[in-house]
Amino acid sequence: MSERKDSWSDKKSSANQHIALPGKLRYIQYQHSLESQYLPAIRALISKDLSEPYSIYVYRYFLCQWGHLCFMALHPTDSSLIGVVICKLEMHSSHSPPTLRGYIAMLAVSAEYRGQGVATALVKMAIDAMIKGNADEIVLETEETNIPAMRLYERLGFLRSKKLHRYYLNGNSAYRLVLLLKESATDFCLD
Ligand SMILES: CC(C)(COP(=O)(O)OP(=O)(O)OC[C@H]1O[C@@H](n2cnc3c(N)ncnc32)[C@H](O)[C@@H]1OP(=O)(O)O)[C@@H](O)C(=O)NCCC(=O)NCCS
Repeated sequence: MSERKDSWSDKKSSANQHIALPGKLRYIQYQHSLESQYLPAIRALISKDLSEPYSIYVYRYFLCQWGHLCFMALHPTDSSLIGVVICKLEMHSSHSPPTLRGYIAMLAVSAEYRGQGVATALVKMAIDAMIKGNADEIVLETEETNIPAMRLYERLGFLRSKKLHRYYLNGNSAYRLVLLLKESATDFCLD
């Protein structure tokens, strides 16, 4: 879903300024009671890499209905937000039969902690939660130039199902990626 502000090459220099993870991170599922504590930090983390930040209603749309599909990585000592993944799961009826489709809407890790498996851990948690919710497939869009995201998702088994030309407002194209969770999903999901 997200449209990034800069190209991957712009990000490369900041990506080199990694610092080691501060011990074992805490990974937690989002709950509505955490909104006032974490929603501002979630918005700040995700907005950093977006050219057009989403309104608070977009976040609430996902978090109020599918908070159980949102996972956060927290600093072990001060509980500050290091990473987040936000998803939804709903029937997709343009196929026959309809499919229960998971969607990874937003994913971000604080720049200084990238390259250490945080996003991989968060996406795996989201995938497991959507499998528990009986998803047939999981889809997402990512900018074609977003090499870290493309590598991460393809390493986890996502396939490129479609190229979306000039998908983002900045004119960049995207790939739709799909993770097929059920044998039967292979018949209908590649659109
Ligand atoms: C894309 C993004 C979420 C990746 O986050 P990340 O935490 O750096 O991702 P990971 O660390 O899990 O994976 C990145 C690399 O670290 C490596 N890695 C994984 N576990 C590791 C570990 N324990 N120690 C060291 N490296 C590790 C992975 O192999 C991967 O390398 P590769 O892809 O070159 O093979 C992050 O770059 C980001 O927030 N970007 C801006 C927002 C964005 O683009 N979101 C995606 C929109 S679709």
